[in-house]
Amino acid sequence: MTVRDILRMGDPRLLRMAEPVTAFDTPALHSLIQDMHDTMAAAQGAGLAAPQIGVNLQLVIFGSTALNPRYPGRPLVPRTVLINPVITPLGADEEEDWEGCLSVPGLRGIVPRWAQVRYTGFDALGHAIDRTVSGFHARVVQHECDHLIGKLYPMRVRDFSRFGFTQVLFPDIGQGDDD
Ligand code: NI
Repeated sequence: MTVRDILRMGDPRLLRMAEPVTAFDTPALHSLIQDMHDTMAAAQGAGLAAPQIGVNLQLVIFGSTALNPRYPGRPLVPRTVLINPVITPLGADEEEDWEGCLSVPGLRGIVPRWAQVRYTGFDALGHAIDRTVSGFHARVVQHECDHLIGKLYPMRVRDFSRFGFTQVLFPDIGQGDDD
């Protein structure tokens, strides 16, 4: 188990365009994905993108099989490894909801996202993924894939009166939650 350091906002490595993965089902790729799972679990995140640990590849993981204390009351999202993703919005509807990010610790903001999207890409073995999703699942995949084009969620916030410190906005989420 290797928990890697998560880069924080201000690090220029979070602002890069990530490169496509070109080799699937390799020991290096599986090792990287294992490190990302370990890092996400240790931080109790709902998702993690490779650039957040300084690896400039188009690779994200997200989802959980258990309720996440950082996101109480949110529906479960299947654990997914998504490589070289393409997201297509379906319709023009947007939804607003709170987001946080492991690279922006201690803060939350209201972020508009497409309400329904189709996403395609590949898993670690190179098998195609093609899903149409909505709600929290759609939000998570849009947030994670934004990391692959150098976008952090504060760049998507339109109303900064709804952006602030988690412990102030949500004092009931729990002690010790600092991200
Ligand atoms: Ni993030």
